[in-house]
Amino acid sequence: MKILVIGSGGREHALVWKIAQSPRADKIFSAPGNAGIQQLASIQDIKQDDTPSLLDFARKNKIDLTVVGPELTLVNGIVDEFQKYKLKIFGPTKKAAKLEGSKIFAKEFMQRHNIPSADFKVFTNSQKAKDCLKEIKLPVVIKADGLASGKGVVVAQDLNDAQEAIELIMEKRSFGSSGDKIIIEDCLKGEEASMLAICDGKDFIMLDSSQDHKRIFDRDSGPNTGGMGAYSPAPIVSPDLLEKIRNEIFKPVIDGMREEGNPFKGILYAGLMITNEGPKVLEFNVRFGDPEIQAILPRLKDDLVTLMLASIEERLDAIKLNWDNRFCVCVVMSSNGYPGRYEVGKEISGLDEAKKEQNVIVFHSGTKSQLSENKTQIITTGGRVLGVTGLGNTIKDAIDKTYQAVRKIHFEGLHYRNDIGQKALK
Ligand code: AMP
Ligand code: GLY
Repeated sequence: MKILVIGSGGREHALVWKIAQSPRADKIFSAPGNAGIQQLASIQDIKQDDTPSLLDFARKNKIDLTVVGPELTLVNGIVDEFQKYKLKIFGPTKKAAKLEGSKIFAKEFMQRHNIPSADFKVFTNSQKAKDCLKEIKLPVVIKADGLASGKGVVVAQDLNDAQEAIELIMEKRSFGSSGDKIIIEDCLKGEEASMLAICDGKDFIMLDSSQDHKRIFDRDSGPNTGGMGAYSPAPIVSPDLLEKIRNEIFKPVIDGMREEGNPFKGILYAGLMITNEGPKVLEFNVRFGDPEIQAILPRLKDDLVTLMLASIEERLDAIKLNWDNRFCVCVVMSSNGYPGRYEVGKEISGLDEAKKEQNVIVFHSGTKSQLSENKTQIITTGGRVLGVTGLGNTIKDAIDKTYQAVRKIHFEGLHYRNDIGQKALK
């Protein structure tokens, strides 16, 4: 099969790495890809949200399966466009992708189907939102309705933070029309976990659990990022909890979406808070989590291409997944300043030495290769640069191995958290 993977992050490198192991994959293309993906796939200079050019490429090259990494491309409706030409593509339609594209849609859907989540109010006017703060218990969570690259959520500890968040989203319009409406919701307490399920519209299979590390600094301090590291499985998700998540969250979502005429296919990702009252949904995403998937895929023993085809062809009911029992840890190495402003173009060294570590994979995110004095250099191009991923028989083993590899890699201004996986040790 000819397979096209859309995107350029660590998530897409992990997907290409896994797909490359499939006996069904004859040739892999990636648009736009990165320096890591380039070693496994033919990279194409097409932007990840340029649906007309991606469609054109898939038609001309007779692509047998397209896999979409980023949410924006899905929310914009690439699946519907490919389906018009009978091209196989893994992911939800535009209407189903609203579970991520509109937080208000997701909250109202959860309310209709009794899916546990924080209480919330919707606002279309910033003054009314600010007035409401006077009656609300702090801390409180302010969320832009639309996509905002993971930056549209503020957990406000005091009134001032909450007001600033409303101004940022609704008045300064930092996220454009994504901030036309906002949600103000109760702040939930507990530990977070990420659960992903592969879905075919009727059935779903949950992938093993994982935990992300959202904040930029150690001990969960500093601003939220796209994710600074992950591990899988997450011991907090006990077998009992897993059953609750299956029956109280995933099942009603898949059934509810089908009943409402928007059957959900592809990956449904539930960001959960494990509270004293049980698991509650913080958000839905309609694609693989990044960096979570970098810690999940190395543990999946089954062929990913077979699974994706089963999702598209509605055959998941006949499938069971097999997992490597080892723990997997992924540490994200980022550019100094991320998630704010950062510099790019820094040469990365030590990648070959890091890769020599056993049971370690270095996934690339913001990297590209360039020729300098007849030598190929790998340079930084983004905020999140690498996802160094290691497997171990215990979580401690996996952590140690991963950090050993991390310490071999250098670039100017690099940053990483030192406490990825520590929560799982407790
Ligand atoms: P979201 O993009 O909605 O998952 O929000 C990003 C992050 O904000 C989450 O991973 C949580 O750390 C935090 N968050 C979102 N909603 C809540 C909530 N209701 N209570 C506490 N923290 C939240
Ligand atoms: N790591 C969080 C996300 O993929 O949205």
